[in-house]
Amino acid sequence: MDNLEIREAVIADAAGIADVHIRSWQSAYQGIVPQDHLDSLDIEERVKSWENGLETPSCPSMVRLVALFNKQIVGFSCIGKSRETDMPEHGELYAIYMTPDFYGRSVGYGLFRESMKELMKQGYEKAYVAVLKDNQRGIKFYERTGASLIKDSDFTIDIGGKTLTEVHYEWSNLKGLNL
Ligand SMILES: CC(C)(COP(=O)(O)OP(=O)(O)OC[C@H]1O[C@@H](n2cnc3c(N)ncnc32)[C@H](O)[C@@H]1OP(=O)(O)O)[C@@H](O)C(=O)NCCC(=O)NCCS
Repeated sequence: MDNLEIREAVIADAAGIADVHIRSWQSAYQGIVPQDHLDSLDIEERVKSWENGLETPSCPSMVRLVALFNKQIVGFSCIGKSRETDMPEHGELYAIYMTPDFYGRSVGYGLFRESMKELMKQGYEKAYVAVLKDNQRGIKFYERTGASLIKDSDFTIDIGGKTLTEVHYEWSNLKGLNL
């Protein structure tokens, strides 16, 4: 796609990332996460949190990428070391979000590809992601990119007072994806 750029995020990207983050949550998690929680997401709070995170990464291996279309941020991803102590050989895709206008326009795949390349640069041959079981768009996307469900990986997470189930999907051979 012309006018598309994918690069590492800088602090000045915080507002653009926060905007995508909130819009994408409000769209993708409608009917899944309680509506009052989605309505309460606060842009200023989110910008501050992204500024702090970009200034002082909580984990040294964490890399944040942004996708820009016509110089405007339309998506972001975060990757790094696995948060699961029993999966140390996996890199983790912590997050990947596109702004809703850009769903299904292959930009998410571009971000995914760069994210996995970054994990390979860090030495990982496998990767995984935690995804809400009810997030069918997300799951379909991961399956199209070659991930499979890790059996019995269900765990629960509380979001906005509701208990939701997450599952893990893994890419068991990053080299084999021919990114
Ligand atoms: C999930 C999400 C990031 C996917 O991004 P997207 O831009 O919508 O997805 P894309 O359009 O890139 O998706 C797939 C396309 O990439 C391309 N693609 C996917 N896998 C590919 C592969 N292995 N090789 C080449 N191209 C591939 C294809 O063109 C495919 O389109 P098609 O199968 O529909 O023809 C995005 O929909 C989103 O932000 N969703 C809401 C938030 C969310 O659920 N995030 C995940 C939380 S865990």
